[in-house]
Formats: sequence, C-alpha cells, structure tokens
Amino acid sequence: MNPQNRAAPLVGRERELCLLEAALRHAAAGRGSVVLIAGEAGIGKTRFCEEVGARHAADLANGDRAALWVLDDLPRVDESTWTFVLDTSGRIAGLRLVLAVTYRDEELVPAHPRWPDLARLRRGPGVVELRLPRLGPADAAQLARGVAPGLPEAALHAVVERGAGMPRLIEELAGLAGDLLGAGLLGPPSVNGLTPREREVAELVAQGLTNQAIAARLRLGRPTVASHVAHILAKLDFASRAQIAAWVAHGRGLAAAGDEHAGLRVLPGA
Ligand SMILES: Nc1ncnc2c1ncn2[C@@H]1O[C@H](COP(=O)(O)OP(=O)(O)OP(=O)(O)O)[C@@H](O)[C@H]1O
Ligand SMILES: [Mg+2]
Repeated sequence: MNPQNRAAPLVGRERELCLLEAALRHAAAGRGSVVLIAGEAGIGKTRFCEEVGARHAADLANGDRAALWVLDDLPRVDESTWTFVLDTSGRIAGLRLVLAVTYRDEELVPAHPRWPDLARLRRGPGVVELRLPRLGPADAAQLARGVAPGLPEAALHAVVERGAGMPRLIEELAGLAGDLLGAGLLGPPSVNGLTPREREVAELVAQGLTNQAIAARLRLGRPTVASHVAHILAKLDFASRAQIAAWVAHGRGLAAAGDEHAGLRVLPGA
C-alpha cells in the first residue's frame, strides 16, 4: 500500500461507529460485549478499529472507564489467544470491556478449522455482529479525492466505478491515477456505452445547447432529446449537464494528447 494513502480521512462507517460507541457506553456501565467485525479483505476492518481506538483513547482521557481490546484478524491469532477470547466471551456481559474482533468472512467459512470456535463465539451472551459493507459511490468518491485531491472528474468517476466500493482498491487506483491515465488504463467511462445518437447529444450538451436547441439541430422532438440526455446521465452516473460537458472536454484533452483509449475522438466535431 502507498503510505501516503493513510492520510485520507475515514469515510462512511457512521452507523458502525455509533454501534461501537454504544457498546463502549454500555461497557462503561458494566455490560461489556464482544463485537465481531466481519468483511471482505481490504474493506477496512483494521482501519475501522484504528478509528474506534483513537476515539476511545480520547474518551479515556475524559474519564471513560470501559476498556477496549482489539483483536485484528481472528483466524491468525494463536491458540492461547483463541482460548482467551472464548473464555472471556462467556463472561463479558458482566465486564467493563469491549472486545472488538475482526475476521475476513470470505475466509472464516464452514470449511475453516476455526469455524466451530466462531460458531461458539457467536452463541455467547453479549455478542454483537457487524459486517462492514462496501462503500457507496459518494463515500468512494470522497475517499478517492482524499487520496488524490486534484483528480479530474472523469478519472474520479473511473476510480469509483472500478473501485467497486472496496477502500483498498479505491486508494490504490486513486494513488496511481496519474500513471494509469497515462497508460490508458483509467480513461473516462467508455463511450461505447453510449449509442452514436447519445454521443452526438453529449457533444451538443457540452457545447452548451439546451434540449430545444439540440432538438432543432438534430431534427428530433424535444422529449426525445430529453430522453437521450436522461440516458447519458444514467449511463455515466452523472447528475448534471455540466458533468457531461466536463467529461466530453476531458476526453478531448486526452484525445489531443494522443491517448488511444480516450475514445471521445469519435464524437462528431471532437
Ligand atoms: N472507511 C474508510 N475510509 C477511508 N479509508 C479506508 C476506509 N476503510 C479502509 N480504508 C483504507 O483502505 C485500506 C484497507 O483497509 P484495511 O487495511 O483496514 O482493510 P482490512 O479489511 O483490514 O483488510 P485485510 O482483510 O487485508 O486485513 C487502508 O489503507 C485503509 O486506510
Ligand atoms: Mg486488516
């Protein structure tokens, strides 16, 4: 991982942070819990626990009396730690302790030798289960911007699309965006997703024409143009005409720079 990525602020996870904060509050009142934090590789289990730990450290300084122990990557802990976790989980409901335990749920599956132990852990009193989901597009874009603040809109869109909501992948793609763009590996979304007519309409939108003007230029009905624009927005996952314009302009820039993958050169007038 590129170490500079660590500087990117945590995104999303508000719901999960609230859950941990509630668990710590209950623990401070003597009702501890084991929080099982599951998720795919690179989804942010370690990062989430780091954030929880940092916040808890601040609370401790303010007099919070609950303890927080984090056991990251349960399948890899040694035998005695497993024994400790299982023994502690049986009595945790009476302790001022939150035991946060992470594991990759794609790894700790029924065929795994530790599966019966996980099943036992799950049945224990005071066990809360939490699965970290993939990031939504808005959070993914925020993360990519945090890693690469100057990322052009179209590249940002490609990072979000190809990052598939996985923080580690998004970080890597955003961190390498300059090189990937140069190699044609991270161009704007392919124009092949647009029909030739939609490409024409996108070009005219980029020229600042209204739907009415586009309709007149292409000899189409206004509702037809509106429907083309709606399809373009949906296909490119954009919310405004300005984004279409930026996308077209960005593609022209890449085309002018000789980038074979920009694809926008096929637009009429581009
Ligand atoms: N919500 C988030 N906001 C910002 N960055 C994140 C977020 N989640 C994860 N990251 C970043 O993504 C990268 C991968 O996260 P992390 O190492 O925590 O994943 P993991 O689930 O622990 O993976 P593994 O299963 O391999 O241990 C890290 O660089 C981390 O800082
Ligand atoms: Mg981890």
